[in-house]
Amino acid sequence: MAFDFAPLVPAGSPAPAVKWTGSPKFNFTGGNNDPDAVPLEGLMAAAQSVLAREGRTLSHYGLHSGPQGYRPLRDFLGLKLKRDAGMACTADDILIVSGSLQALDLVNGALLARGDTIICERDCYQGTLTRYQRLGVNVVGIPLDEGGLRIDALGEALAELKSRNVRPKFIYTIPTVQNPTGTILSEERRIALLKLADTYGVPIVEDDCYADLVWSGKRPPALYAMSTAENVIHIGSFSKSIAPALRVGFIVAPWAIMSRMLAQKTDAGSGALEQMVLAEYCAANFATHVPALRRGLRKKLDTLMEALNEQFGTAAEFEEPKGGIFLWVKLPDQVDTLKLYQKALAAGVAINPGPEWSTDAVHTRSRMRLCFASPSHAEIREGIAVLADICRKEFGVPERSANIQRERV
Ligand SMILES: Cc1ncc(COP(=O)(O)O)c(C=O)c1O
Repeated sequence: MAFDFAPLVPAGSPAPAVKWTGSPKFNFTGGNNDPDAVPLEGLMAAAQSVLAREGRTLSHYGLHSGPQGYRPLRDFLGLKLKRDAGMACTADDILIVSGSLQALDLVNGALLARGDTIICERDCYQGTLTRYQRLGVNVVGIPLDEGGLRIDALGEALAELKSRNVRPKFIYTIPTVQNPTGTILSEERRIALLKLADTYGVPIVEDDCYADLVWSGKRPPALYAMSTAENVIHIGSFSKSIAPALRVGFIVAPWAIMSRMLAQKTDAGSGALEQMVLAEYCAANFATHVPALRRGLRKKLDTLMEALNEQFGTAAEFEEPKGGIFLWVKLPDQVDTLKLYQKALAAGVAINPGPEWSTDAVHTRSRMRLCFASPSHAEIREGIAVLADICRKEFGVPERSANIQRERV
């Protein structure tokens, strides 16, 4: 008989994971990228050359680069962040981590205790929200509009918290291609956000992992770059620009807080091979790879919006995202996307139900997030047609769908 571990698990532990049973046929979930856009040839050549040159440094924890990560990768990031985001930072200000999820854990580990309060966008990345929930942190969600975080609402929330003597530990924001709404916070709003943060003495955690995927190729300066108060922790990732399975992200932060986060990173460094290959590949190729990736993603977004228009008609409402890999869709009020999710999954279509991506389950009851990066164009068309059928059977909407699209696949 199998040993019973259950009585040994401490109270408050996360619920046990469910076993993986394979990928759904039509997968619109998660932050996966386009398999055809992974720059395989370049990564293979980079692996070959970097290993031939300095592979023996793998014999040492930290590759002779110290605890903040492979030095050439941090040098690349210093140049890239200066060029693209206006950030004046050097390798010393950068910590390489195992995906930006580890960055979130290090920020939280350094700053949060049970009962603390943080502020974030009302519709927000699920991986962030579940972390706060697990830590027992109070989350104040600020509504967004088509320009991103609403500064008026943020001001009101900060004032209200202050009136109750609550000083939030930080404002967590995804200002550049917000997840899930796809909005970009303008430079004016960034100035106003920084001013409020300064006035109330609250630092900002800037999660910028989609910043390379702005359709126009031109992003506003990072909050980190615009801050004069050294109160911004900047988080980035190679997951969306190169590949998520590599698990390489980074933090840029003032030493006062970097030193605290570094003390929390007790894994003796993130995967070295990934860092070496990325540094070698990116120095020569990042600037040409990313625009091609963006063009491919933009085409997939067009396919998804077309498919939704054909299959759902006016029953699917959405704002066109400014970049990224997600479309945030509003269905008619009678649709419960948590239920739709279950039914669709049984038919091989995976979607992210809105309530899991928000601090407000009522506002997001009939919303869903669709990732358009990983399914093929044909899968997008077919999957949305299947989803529309299921939605109609369960909720009576869309009333009628054009099956033309399905015949074309
Ligand atoms: C806003 C945001 N932050 C962090 C992550 C985690 O990314 P990774 O750990 O792959 O860098 C994601 C992934 O989708 C995300 O959307």
